[in-house]
Amino acid sequence: MTAATRSYEVADIARQLGVSPTDLPAQICELIRTSHLEHRPIEGRERDALILRVIRELEKPLEVAGEHRLPRWEMGWGENLDAFIASGYDFAALVPKFVRPGEPVRIQGEYIQPISTGFDVDYIRILVTWLYARYFDQTSEIHEFGCGTSQNLIPAAQLYPGRPLFGYDWAKPSQGIIDLLAEHRGINIKGQVFDMFRPDPSVKLAPGAGVITIGSLEQLGTKIDPFLDFLIERRPAVVANMDSFNELYDPEHLPDALALRYDRKRGYLEGWVSKLRALEAKGVIEFLDQRRGYGNIFHEGHGYVVWRVV
Ligand SMILES: C[S@@+](CC[C@H](N)C(=O)[O-])C[C@H]1O[C@@H](n2cnc3c(N)ncnc32)[C@H](O)[C@@H]1O
Repeated sequence: MTAATRSYEVADIARQLGVSPTDLPAQICELIRTSHLEHRPIEGRERDALILRVIRELEKPLEVAGEHRLPRWEMGWGENLDAFIASGYDFAALVPKFVRPGEPVRIQGEYIQPISTGFDVDYIRILVTWLYARYFDQTSEIHEFGCGTSQNLIPAAQLYPGRPLFGYDWAKPSQGIIDLLAEHRGINIKGQVFDMFRPDPSVKLAPGAGVITIGSLEQLGTKIDPFLDFLIERRPAVVANMDSFNELYDPEHLPDALALRYDRKRGYLEGWVSKLRALEAKGVIEFLDQRRGYGNIFHEGHGYVVWRVV
């Protein structure tokens, strides 16, 4: 390690999660210790060059989220399905191909350069496992909407073996992966085609169920009401949404100002937290947690809000 290179320890991660190190359960501490979290800061001219790269990207005609993108997701998850089979059902084959190992990332509003290519996958695994450990302990079952390859349901299966898991996605290869996870990895998981633009009214949640979304709300843009109404009506015990939330950025902070422009240009999620705040003011829901902090060079795709219907 060079002088500027360091790793995140348990105390660093606790600070980033806004809790005391003693709040972190043993599994999370162990996960932190075995993760590849070595990195160095990106400063000065290197930071300028990175910001210039983001600005140049913003000047390009970027693909916009929306209903027309279904074939792209089907193709992507189809590749992961093939790779999962070819690997002999190795969880590592569930990492999406769009994850670019070794790329700079942003954390707590600053850019850093990971040293290990495993940094991004490991850091996100810590965040997701933390959400499950902190908020899903008492849930009867866990439902992820927009689950993709289900890579982020694996930590739930490991923390709570045998607890019923449900993965929903509009892309069919997602259900193919889920069937294989149940058959070859012994996970108690079921999959179903589900379009968050048009929630299926026949989908029910058991009393005490927990709901998680990770990176899927982003794709809804401003068309969020049908899915939000669907969730409220089902009264889950807890909901955790992990995404880039425009309300949580500081428009006066350069990396945040660029993230706001990036999300707007790509037609990503807008208004989710504002709607939740309005529901909180009416006494319909209550927030349990709100946190931002981790993402790629363009935006913080792994901020989170945790809430429940009152
Ligand atoms: C960025 S990926 C995240 C996948 C997964 N949650 C994860 O963390 O690896 C977004 C996911 O949302 C799904 N998605 C996008 N729009 C959707 C919709 N209208 N209904 C259901 N799923 C959707 C995509 O197919 C994709 O699997």
